[in-house]
Amino acid sequence: MNVTVIGAGYVGMVQAVGLASLGHRVRLGEANPDRVAMIQSGDSPIFEEGLSALLRQVLEDGTLSVHSNNLDALSEADVIFVALPTPSAPDGTADLSAIGGLLAEIAAHLPDGVVLVFKSTVPVGTVAKTQRELGDRVHVASNPEFLREGSAVSDFLHPDRIVIGVADTDAGEKLRKLYDAIEAPLVMTDPASAELAKYAANAYLATRVTFGNAIANLCEAVGADVKDVLDGIGHDHRIGRHFMRPGPGFGGSCFPKDTQALVKAAEQAGYDFTLLKSVITENEVQRSRVLDKVRTAAGGELAGVPVAVWGAAYKGGTDDLRSSPALWLIQRMDAEGAAVTVFDPAATVDGITMAGSPLEAASGAAVLLVATEWDMFSTVDMTDVAAVMDGQWVIDARNMLDPAEVRAAGLRYRGIGR
Ligand code: UGA
Repeated sequence: MNVTVIGAGYVGMVQAVGLASLGHRVRLGEANPDRVAMIQSGDSPIFEEGLSALLRQVLEDGTLSVHSNNLDALSEADVIFVALPTPSAPDGTADLSAIGGLLAEIAAHLPDGVVLVFKSTVPVGTVAKTQRELGDRVHVASNPEFLREGSAVSDFLHPDRIVIGVADTDAGEKLRKLYDAIEAPLVMTDPASAELAKYAANAYLATRVTFGNAIANLCEAVGADVKDVLDGIGHDHRIGRHFMRPGPGFGGSCFPKDTQALVKAAEQAGYDFTLLKSVITENEVQRSRVLDKVRTAAGGELAGVPVAVWGAAYKGGTDDLRSSPALWLIQRMDAEGAAVTVFDPAATVDGITMAGSPLEAASGAAVLLVATEWDMFSTVDMTDVAAVMDGQWVIDARNMLDPAEVRAAGLRYRGIGR
């Protein structure tokens, strides 16, 4: 099938390269000429495991081409995916200006019968509104993405499900065929349900993380160990163990934005989503709790205290700093006058001293904060850490280290809920 993908960000890159790897003829439209040149030379503009290798393969096979002009990208298209950013507007709603600009540019040039699919997360009703604007010459659909940064390529090839929301049966059939080579349950529904499924998934997962954090906080208050409590409930197949790891709160480009947008959308529809409002508030308080722990470990004041931070990205496996709780902590400690040194294997924080290794960061530190769950942190020998640190406190905001091992090295340990 001839496919066009507009936007070479996280979502668009993975969608374009993924569909090209399935043998479809994909044209990727991207406005930034530097990004276009980079992709054409086989370099992925985003850090995502396996993506660069797959990109080179589809360029070599000739199934992917990249275009700086969107109109060139959509010639001969059977299906067009819109993968432009929909960031939070200042009032918390989704800012659809990039999509509005694109539709104004391409509306008059859309091939008859083409299926225009929103891959970006768009508020419920966007498909219906766009269909009214474009008329019945084209079919507008929703096919939300459920990719996680860090495992996006494998999530694309082995998804838990594919959700397609479209009013026209033939258009739905076309989209089903597009994913024929992927083995996954297919949910074929109306556009509004597909649009809401995306927000509901992220809101539920954000709520789960927040619930895990709340139980961890309660564990600290009553002297219980969150690891055992989560183990104690995780055997229940209705609950499970996944996605309740305590930490400094959720971050990234999706959960904070989508939870805000859903609260706003609910409000506009006359539903007061108090549950999700509390999740958002609790999540913000969670990172302050971690900051309090570091401050207490530093003796009550951060001014002049050397603090080492392991991790800056919002989670392990990515260089993404968007809404990162680790970044928030780094900046707050810096603002309070701490001498902050950061090590992150992928991300760089401007204006902060970056170290080349975990040990280099820990060198001379009074307090060590583990802020992002990079696997490598759990393999650092804590005796080596103790030997280079000046102070003794380790605040493990990701519960990654073995408390016994940390203590055996002569250091003092505080995790989250243990
Ligand atoms: C999330 C969803 O998981 C994807 O399904 C969705 O497609 C994507 O948003 C999106 O809307 O585009 P992502 O933001 O890449 O993916 O990251 P997650 O792995 O879901 O983590 C989100 C945040 O929750 C991170 O800050 C992470 O550290 C935190 N988290 C996650 C925890 O604190 N504890 C957990 O147990 C799990």
